[in-house]
Amino acid sequence: MTERGYPDDERDAPDEPARDPDDHAELLSELDSHDLSLATDLVHASGADAFAFDPDADPDAVFPQSVASGGPTPSGAIIWTRIAPDAFDPDTSLAVQVAHDPAFEEVVYDGVVTDEARIEAHDYTVKVDLDGHLDADSAYHYRFIYDGVASRAGRCRTLPHPNDSPESVEFAVLACQNFLNGYFPAYHHVAEEDVDFLVHVGDFVYESDDGAFKGFGSREYEGREKRFPSGHDRVQGLEDYRYLYRTYRGDEFLQEALEEHTLIAGWDDHEMVNDVYWDARTDAPAGDHPRGDDPEFMTELVADAMHAWWEYMPARVEYDPNGDSLQERFRLWRTFEFGDLVTLAMTDERLFRDPPREAIPTPDNVGPQYEPPGRTMLGDEQREWLIDTVTGSETTWTVWADEVLTTPFRLGSGPLSVYPVQGGWDGYTRERQRITEAIDAADVDNFVTLTGDMHCYVAAYQQSSYPGRVSGGEGVAPGERIGVEFMTPAITSLNVAEALGLTSGWAKRLTEPLLSWLIPAMNPHIDFFDSHNWGYSTVAFTREDCTYVGYSVDKTVDSPEADREVLVAYRVPEGVVALEEVSDEHSA
Ligand SMILES: [Fe+2]
Repeated sequence: MTERGYPDDERDAPDEPARDPDDHAELLSELDSHDLSLATDLVHASGADAFAFDPDADPDAVFPQSVASGGPTPSGAIIWTRIAPDAFDPDTSLAVQVAHDPAFEEVVYDGVVTDEARIEAHDYTVKVDLDGHLDADSAYHYRFIYDGVASRAGRCRTLPHPNDSPESVEFAVLACQNFLNGYFPAYHHVAEEDVDFLVHVGDFVYESDDGAFKGFGSREYEGREKRFPSGHDRVQGLEDYRYLYRTYRGDEFLQEALEEHTLIAGWDDHEMVNDVYWDARTDAPAGDHPRGDDPEFMTELVADAMHAWWEYMPARVEYDPNGDSLQERFRLWRTFEFGDLVTLAMTDERLFRDPPREAIPTPDNVGPQYEPPGRTMLGDEQREWLIDTVTGSETTWTVWADEVLTTPFRLGSGPLSVYPVQGGWDGYTRERQRITEAIDAADVDNFVTLTGDMHCYVAAYQQSSYPGRVSGGEGVAPGERIGVEFMTPAITSLNVAEALGLTSGWAKRLTEPLLSWLIPAMNPHIDFFDSHNWGYSTVAFTREDCTYVGYSVDKTVDSPEADREVLVAYRVPEGVVALEEVSDEHSA
């Protein structure tokens, strides 16, 4: 296998086991098998034909999900596309071009994907790994060409070199995008943001095609109807998951954002099934699904979910479809380093987590002392890796992309309170305390968690422990502040206001400030809370500070003109654990 790179022709091939051409027949006969590896081979173009295209041809007819990039390294990224099955021809090769300029005059890398059988076997998705071929801390333009038609051009970005000292790194942070519960104009605004990378903290798809995950104040959104190939309302297997990703990735605004920016993706529960966890008694996943307590079915279902995620997300993860257990097959947890400025640790909070507790979560049963030793969300190996990564970080900022709420969240006061967010770390307080105490003991500076899952905006202090019973009973002193937490809102998913029918008119005007006052009053470590809006956030890191800006975007309009407003902004100075509200500075 060779590929053409400029200016150095003799670089390492993408991380890809050698594959004999004879394997194609075997692959074709096993289209439903889980046989695959990381990237698709590129071979040297024998002629210019594969790169010729008609500039007037419609890219959407051949590339209905457009293009995307992800998995950045200091020398590359993974670029992704999908060929329309109607346009697919096993004798036609897919060409790839990467250039410095949007006109593709300064091409730095190109090649032809010849593994057509594998493309077909993976729902016509294609990933090309550019690792080893690009310069650090640089942006490139890329496109695919198939049968005389060019895709829309995407932009991808590489990480800074580990020895670099970038002035700033900025993310758009995203979560929770139920396609049935609103439009995605937030992604149009994300596409226009001048950020370096997208960080998605999960719920990229929702596994239902009916009204599940909606509430009292929810409505229908024209054009968002779905119908699973299986005919069921809840996802049943690989073809249903693939259908979900194809449908979501058909959204023009999501496409715009993924064309424009390079994605760092995690997952939460809805990429598999709602509230999924690992049941040690059956040694299988379980969760909110009509067959959620059938271990064999759930094992296959989660395997299929992982497979479709791997096919459709341009992510650099270790995936061994032949691994003995689901946990051994897939390693979502990984680190990204942005020179000496930012370390980002991404965790997997679903494949290892223990079942939820069954009691109503009151102060009498929520707390490390009430949990059995060994209760875990991350599993031992991942937790120790996370602690080592965070406490060993030598960058200015240390960031944990923690899909679910890290800090306690209490409703009510005293013995009458409840901790309703049991899917977050309030359900795993023993392990939380182990992590926060380790961070406190190591005196980690400038620690930030980026979270999602709750469909609201939160700015909070993280502490080594928390006052009150959640930290081990009465008389426990307030813990040390060890960092801050910024939760990104949902793009569209059900929030508190929508669940209660309080999203418009006087009900909104009255309850929005009330809720935003009430939650911090009940939770002294929480400085800001809002669950009346949808949108996204940006988080920028510099030598001087970290700035979080939460945007609200009108999800009821399927238009680039959808209103966008700054809902809240916070600044955290370098070296100090302090949340400074700076919304006025960021509101236009
Ligand atoms: Fe969600």
